Amino acid sequence: MTLLGNRNQEMLDLVDPEKGLVDRRIFSDQEIYELELERIFARAWNFMAHDSQIPNPGDFVMTYIGEDRVIAVRDIEGNAQVLVNSCRHRGNAICRAEEGHATSFMCTYHGWTYDLKGALVGVPGFKEVYHEELDKENWGLIKAGKVDSYKGFIFATMDPEAPDLDEYLGEVGRLSIDQLALRGDIEVLSGIQKYVIPCNWKLAADNVWDFYHPEISHNSAIIARRQQNQPNRYTLPHMVLLGEYGHALSGPEVTEESRKRAADLGRDQSWRDRPEVEEALGPVGRRTQSHPHVFPNFWITGPGEGQVSMRMPKGPMKTEIWWYSFNDPAKPLNKRAIETFGPAGLLEQDDGENWGESTRSMRGVISKQYPINYSMGLGHGEIIDDETGPPHVETSINEHAQLWHYRSWADWMAAESWSDLKANHSLVPEDRV
Ligand code: FES
Ligand code: FE
Repeated sequence: MTLLGNRNQEMLDLVDPEKGLVDRRIFSDQEIYELELERIFARAWNFMAHDSQIPNPGDFVMTYIGEDRVIAVRDIEGNAQVLVNSCRHRGNAICRAEEGHATSFMCTYHGWTYDLKGALVGVPGFKEVYHEELDKENWGLIKAGKVDSYKGFIFATMDPEAPDLDEYLGEVGRLSIDQLALRGDIEVLSGIQKYVIPCNWKLAADNVWDFYHPEISHNSAIIARRQQNQPNRYTLPHMVLLGEYGHALSGPEVTEESRKRAADLGRDQSWRDRPEVEEALGPVGRRTQSHPHVFPNFWITGPGEGQVSMRMPKGPMKTEIWWYSFNDPAKPLNKRAIETFGPAGLLEQDDGENWGESTRSMRGVISKQYPINYSMGLGHGEIIDDETGPPHVETSINEHAQLWHYRSWADWMAAESWSDLKANHSLVPEDRV
């Protein structure tokens, strides 16, 4: 695709929220992908780490903002810093480890050394070859524009113009994280699973709200888990919450029946009954369970597995999936972390095949002329906006959250800056989705 003329209008035209159609080129086009890195990932608040991964000064993890490698590190004062992992001299990585503990970061090429806040504190030959003329103050590491955390989940944005994290997450983003954070004293267990699927990152992201596919895609897993006598999922009550900037929480409602089924699967949900949790979730939050997603690529699996996942973009047709597992005394680690998701997960093996094959078809010169369909339930959802919680839709299986994701995606892609995005982004429609 060649982006000519009004690029911003072209971005908006790729998604038709009225008809529920999405242009296939957004899943395969290199130019659109490059613009995503710039206008979405370099601008959004990205999940960096959980407090428990870097509890002490000097503790760090390496992660990504888009395709930029960054280091999330606890500084001497105990604040989280997010530093771009690229030496200011020739660009070399200043850290090769995926996680660890450091007192400073020394580049292995010529030895420039940076402290935990990214300041350039050491330059070999500063006197002899730089004649003390290098202005070290101006050659510190590139840093995130803002770093903040919500209930132990650290986020960063490269854009200093971004709204504060609290405003960015809004009610729906916060409630999404609450679904995991309110379980208790959670901490990330060591060993993050990382692997690559040949798919566009957005297909992996939008699948988190897809409750249409398990019956078909995961039939063998359902049989293997002896879950054959399940109710007809098409008739189960679902709830959808749509948040500003593309966050959404959508999935089956919590009912007596669903809690019983969860208990049969060994998923302890008694944490939801604690008075402080009930109070924090509120009436709507109490009735909501999987799956919450913070735009653009952060999935909290909710009350089931106690895991979170990042869908890291690695090109228009390549995504690295990261799985973080949290402690959960109610379920042994190996079962929870390996059985469902991840490269050996019963469900994600099926999903990965589908996302890969879908992505492959997005490039065909013929097939890419035809949009894909996110119209399920369109026009059938009444938005309930009352004192019980954030505006929500009570419905059956639907594609509201997926379409919301793409509608918001188009807003991000069409905006020149954060102030443009703030002024021009979709809000939850008045009464129907
Ligand atoms: Fe880092 Fe030269 S590239 S010191
Ligand atoms: Fe699936």
